[in-house]
Amino acid sequence: MTTPTQPAAVRARGVVKSFGHGDTQVMVLKGIDLDIYQGEMLLLVGESGGGKTTLLSALAGILDIDEGHIDVLGIPLSELPARRRTQFRGETMGFIYQQFNLLQALTAAENVAVPLLIQNLGRREAVRRARLMLERVGLGDRTEFLPKNLSGGQQQRIAIARALVNEPRLLICDEPTAALDGPNGQKIMELIREVGRSPDRCVVVVTHDSRIFNFGDRIAHLTDGRIDSIDSIAREGTA
Ligand SMILES: Nc1ncnc2c1ncn2[C@@H]1O[C@H](COP(=O)(O)OP(=O)(O)O)[C@@H](O)[C@H]1O
Ligand SMILES: [Mg+2]
Repeated sequence: MTTPTQPAAVRARGVVKSFGHGDTQVMVLKGIDLDIYQGEMLLLVGESGGGKTTLLSALAGILDIDEGHIDVLGIPLSELPARRRTQFRGETMGFIYQQFNLLQALTAAENVAVPLLIQNLGRREAVRRARLMLERVGLGDRTEFLPKNLSGGQQQRIAIARALVNEPRLLICDEPTAALDGPNGQKIMELIREVGRSPDRCVVVVTHDSRIFNFGDRIAHLTDGRIDSIDSIAREGTA
């Protein structure tokens, strides 16, 4: 892979985060330096409890950091007041989690429409766009189903559609395949790559599932609170 020359979409420098106080204080992030570039899918791996989710929460501006700086799309996220961060997150980021976090009382289309409704889009237009997004993830014939009547893989597809419906510049995925069996996990990663990645977007995927390592462009290793190495992944046809 050629070394990326464009400015990073996400730029983290010296990020430190600890939890607790005094004797029980644990420093989880000990000085994270990380760049994520437009157009790439970066995998973030590391052992369980190592701080992967903490780092994602920091990159999303959900969690205050103790030290360091985080810029997202040229905006100094870590310096913004909480309200502005929340607004910026809603406009620019999408999230996919291990547990699909769907609202059980809402249909697939209504779940996908939620981020648009939060952005004050009218209900009819929101549901129309949600249905189109569900078609893109292969669920065009399931838009009026409740989550409980769909398989795990299908529920994760709804969550992907929901994360992408407002065309986020930064897609953040926290162990998106952990609740799925091997074949479904592979399909979901293919889908995230296919619909989530584009030249003006970037995707970061946290995982400790070695079966999906080959889906990324680069793989960053989080070890003892730091990014200790980043490797390029040779991809068939793109290497
Ligand atoms: N809100 C919190 N309060 C206290 N400790 C936390 C909190 N969130 C995470 N931790 C601790 O930080 C460490 C890293 O957690 P996490 O980021 O969830 O790891 P990973 O996602 O790599 O499994 C763990 O020891 C966890 O207990
Ligand atoms: Mg985690």
